[in-house]
Amino acid sequence: MTGKTKIAIFASGSGSNFEALEIACREGELDAEIALVMTDKPASFVIERARQADIRGVALEPKAFPTKQAFEEALLAILREAGVEWIVLAGYMRLIGPTMLAAYPSRIVNIHPSLLPSFPGKDAIGQAVAHGVKVTGVTVHLVDEGMDTGPILNQAAVPVVEGDPEKTAQAIQKTEHVIYKETLQKLFKPVPANN
Ligand code: GRF
Repeated sequence: MTGKTKIAIFASGSGSNFEALEIACREGELDAEIALVMTDKPASFVIERARQADIRGVALEPKAFPTKQAFEEALLAILREAGVEWIVLAGYMRLIGPTMLAAYPSRIVNIHPSLLPSFPGKDAIGQAVAHGVKVTGVTVHLVDEGMDTGPILNQAAVPVVEGDPEKTAQAIQKTEHVIYKETLQKLFKPVPANN
């Protein structure tokens, strides 16, 4: 027993959030063990980052299964065998279905690059810029059956850099890499209230 929370990270893309969490685990800022990284996109760079960090990478494509339920049951078998307690979504571009939600009730967390409930779904930063907001941000929330709708755990504001969506995106990523590890640490190891 290490006393560490066993997590699986799900990602579909570059995996910079995975990398930030992996460093936080190694440096003792996040009391968790990343049992595996799962991707639905075998070519995604997150798998290379996992390999470099010596963490098990699992690529599972939904199209290889007849139904979403069959896909999620196969995934669950892997998670259970690895002893995964919490699922951490980090740029995972797929809705979690009823099979997974029932197996991990209130134990799936997501990070989204906007101040929810504003700008859910794809290209949240583009949506915010197009809307002309001056401040956007990052939300960490529990996952329910909706798209970016579950209970909010934490938020941080990030100013929009006028005329420079790229800089805005960089500032958001920087904030994500800090807020995710901090929120997860509080979630896994809540500080007991003083009497
Ligand atoms: C992040 O902005 C995250 O909020 C969103 O997808 C992006 C993933 O980035 N859901 P990365 O793959 O972690 O670099």
